[in-house]
Amino acid sequence: MEVIIQPDKKAASSLAARIVAQLIQRKGECVLGLATGNTPLMLYKELIRLHKQGELDFERVTTFNLDEYVGLSPSHPASYTSYMWENFFKHINIPAHRVHIPDGLAPDIPAFCRQYEGAIKAAGGIDIQVLGIGTDGHIGFNEPSSSLASRTRIKTLTKQTLEDNARFFNGEENVPHHVITMGVGTIMESRKCLLMAFGKKKADVVARMVEGPITAMVPASILQMHPEAVVIIDEAAASKLERSDYYRWVYDNKPDWQKY
Ligand code: F6R
Repeated sequence: MEVIIQPDKKAASSLAARIVAQLIQRKGECVLGLATGNTPLMLYKELIRLHKQGELDFERVTTFNLDEYVGLSPSHPASYTSYMWENFFKHINIPAHRVHIPDGLAPDIPAFCRQYEGAIKAAGGIDIQVLGIGTDGHIGFNEPSSSLASRTRIKTLTKQTLEDNARFFNGEENVPHHVITMGVGTIMESRKCLLMAFGKKKADVVARMVEGPITAMVPASILQMHPEAVVIIDEAAASKLERSDYYRWVYDNKPDWQKY
């Protein structure tokens, strides 16, 4: 796991954008796994800026989103489909048929989940999976106790996540209880995982993910087993790490060929 501590959210998001941009510029036809929530908003803004400047072409980019609420129409303002189009897709030149977001209205959810897994495989697998982390340690919506080998499926949100997401729904009572999420096993098959976390609220869970034991009680901790997991955090989210000096030292002493 590579832990990169940046002074603030803006610097961290620019670095994450550079990593994604390098992939698109190098590979052209590539597959991105995407997340929603507050964390990746500045990353998307920066990628949009690079696109508008003529530096990034999304014509041959395919995307798969991590998750979506069950029972929410894609046009609902709090759906992850609306979020993605509003905050990212409508500002870039990605062809709509290359965008994949779980269908919260799928009549047969298990069949839809199998099909989603099949589509990821058919696209050649995910090159970079962008991730945030829940205050309870979830990635995607794989809540604590999720199987670390799980695949795309339906999950029930924890009380903590309902509270955390109430802000998008005018109160906790309106947050759907079920979601479709890529599994932990699905995420682990991505060639690179890029997890960002910002703010003091994430400091505890970041420390548990990076320096705690690997446990299904903190699903993100399985990233310790990923061959290319990059964790980009701001100072506040890094504040409870015991070895932060070491992570800084490693980053400052990266050989030139390894720098982003
Ligand atoms: C969203 C997702 C979630 C969020 C996490 C953090 O697609 O998969 O795991 O990344 O809940 O949310 P924020 O970024 O709002 O703190």
